[in-house]
Amino acid sequence: MNDLIIQNIKELILPKSTDRPLKGAELDQLDVIENGTVVVNDGKIVYSGPHTDKYDAEQVIDATGTVVSPSLIDAHTHLVFGGSREHEMSLKRQGKSYLEILESGGGILSTVKATRDISEEDLFKKAEHDLLTMIQHGVLGVESKSGYGLDKENELKQLRVSNRLAEKYGLDMRHTFLGPHAVPEEAESNEAFLNEMIELLPEVKEYADFADIFCETGVFSVEESRHYMQKAKEVGFKVKIHADEIDPLGGLELAIDENAISADHLVASSAEGKAKLKNSDTVAVLLPATTFYLDKNDYADARGMLDNDGAIAIATDYNPGSSVTNNLQLAMAIAALKLKLSPNEVWNAVTVNAAKAIDLDAGTINEGDKANIVIWNAPNHEYIPYHFGINHAQKVIKDGRVIVDNEFSLD
Ligand code: NIG
Ligand code: FE
Repeated sequence: MNDLIIQNIKELILPKSTDRPLKGAELDQLDVIENGTVVVNDGKIVYSGPHTDKYDAEQVIDATGTVVSPSLIDAHTHLVFGGSREHEMSLKRQGKSYLEILESGGGILSTVKATRDISEEDLFKKAEHDLLTMIQHGVLGVESKSGYGLDKENELKQLRVSNRLAEKYGLDMRHTFLGPHAVPEEAESNEAFLNEMIELLPEVKEYADFADIFCETGVFSVEESRHYMQKAKEVGFKVKIHADEIDPLGGLELAIDENAISADHLVASSAEGKAKLKNSDTVAVLLPATTFYLDKNDYADARGMLDNDGAIAIATDYNPGSSVTNNLQLAMAIAALKLKLSPNEVWNAVTVNAAKAIDLDAGTINEGDKANIVIWNAPNHEYIPYHFGINHAQKVIKDGRVIVDNEFSLD
């Protein structure tokens, strides 16, 4: 006897299990099974495929009229931060750009102040609330960055919160040290601050899987980023980079040269950088909700990256300044509209490829996989990125157990 059968699934979405990210045209391939069945036992998938009656289970969910998929993975978030920045909306209306707000001590630096000022317990509660919202929206794999502490005490505080959340909810989380996210006001120079962050690397290793850096005009240069990434690799980190978000500095080329697990943003990446994706498994993590929120007209060239046989993933970049949404379904919709991705490409980009971008064994529900599943209140898989801005997740199943049930009831 099994634990659970999900029966009569209108569309069962089955991304392929691979040991490397899907690249180029492979992203448009997705098994979509009409009238599917999923069987779960002991938190694992026993069967997923076309309808069958050959299994018994304690619990049967009739999924008539719904879509079933692996739970989603948000491969780039700044989940743990103090405060909020709604006051920046009026600065933006006055025409101030993102980098101008940062230069005048606002932006990231105002979140640094709020993150330093908040207690670890309050920081935990705030991030927990945001994480639970993500789970309610169908996400069970999360990457979470530090980078609002910019000193030892507060970077560690953020990373401890992130680790405690993973433990409390038994979640597939990855934690990223983003010490070089901005240069704090008290720093003597960029160089001195970067060295301070490099010295922290061995100590933060206990709490972080990846080391990340913000390579951008006015923040860290390509050469500084290269130096940091090399030092981080010496300590045993896999590396990531915020690259070419605003200016085309060559961060994508650097990421590929340094064999980064992912290069993120890439809105302004050069043709040479995109061409280099062909011979690399570095995942281009594209963050279209950020471009939308920064009110830019030019989005990352996802089609060009796929034409170059690149691997792409989609994430929210949830943070209080440049992408104030922890709803990955919204990022999927913006990706479909503005990055011109097909429904299949969108689904692969938030499941199997998102998993590869953060070194997680997740994103698929084939036999033997963890039973992390979402039942979507939608008639087909194309509908979810189409009907944008709302939550389509009806049930979220983690390790074979229904942990979210969004059904409305007057009882
Ligand atoms: O990924 N670009 C740098 N970091 C974040 C924004 C952080 C903030 O504005 O607070 C990002 O967009
Ligand atoms: Fe980011």
